[in-house]
Amino acid sequence: MLEVTVKATTANLGPGFDCLGLALNIENKVKFIKSDKDFTDKNNIIYQSAKKIFDLSGKTMPPIEIEQEINIPICRGLGSSAACIAAGCIAGNIMSGANMSLDELIEIGTEIEGHPDNIVPAFLGGFTVSSMDEGKVVYFRQDAYEGFKYAVMYPDYTLPTSQARGVLPKEIAFSDGVFNVGKASLFTAAMIAGDGELLKYACKDKLHQPYRKSLVPGFDDIIDKAQSLGALASFLSGAGPTIIAILSKDDNDFETAMKEHLKKIKGKWTLKVVGPSNEGARV
Ligand code: HSE
Repeated sequence: MLEVTVKATTANLGPGFDCLGLALNIENKVKFIKSDKDFTDKNNIIYQSAKKIFDLSGKTMPPIEIEQEINIPICRGLGSSAACIAAGCIAGNIMSGANMSLDELIEIGTEIEGHPDNIVPAFLGGFTVSSMDEGKVVYFRQDAYEGFKYAVMYPDYTLPTSQARGVLPKEIAFSDGVFNVGKASLFTAAMIAGDGELLKYACKDKLHQPYRKSLVPGFDDIIDKAQSLGALASFLSGAGPTIIAILSKDDNDFETAMKEHLKKIKGKWTLKVVGPSNEGARV
């Protein structure tokens, strides 16, 4: 039996569309159990990711059972698919004896997921910046600043990434591109420096949130409330519908006040305050 622990991740963090990422302290445990009979759903993304590693290393995958303890909300913009892919790739690497490097697994995981912003922190933990360069993933990773905590707010409905990507424009105005380059750069600097004041100016976006917010009723209301309650930043997590507010570690008032406010918003919202995770996927 092999057990892989994988973390939730948030991507984009406002202006850093498809490049910024952060691991959060919410985890799934995935057990891979050798079996005589293969009951596994072959469409399962964990299974497919493990099998991909077997296939690439020229080995045949034996029958296995997969059991999961799931704490990462599914299809909510918290990297549940990246967590499954990371777990499958890591288990496949060990079970097949392929002995691939972490960077090779990140490449394969990114190919399966389609973009690297959840995959890189799912494997490595911490705060990450990732970008594709001629088909290869190039990334920066640093331990996340421990002085921030994260109010993770999610509704009872799911939002498939494909749907949330489907509402994005094919082209954007040059001025919007310039705006986001500035904000994403400031955001990155603020996360690395642990500068909460800078975050307040950095968390603005013109690339995806304006187009996606119609898919998340109450989005503006929650963002405005988060700001008025003293959040350092607040944004759509990945493709949504989760909204995350970054708080100072010593903020003791936000959680209660926001939980009360969320009762008024359609969608039975849940709020959990969690720390960052500097630990990536582990066996
Ligand atoms: N960067 C991706 C998006 C994350 O916003 O569509 C979701 O997988």
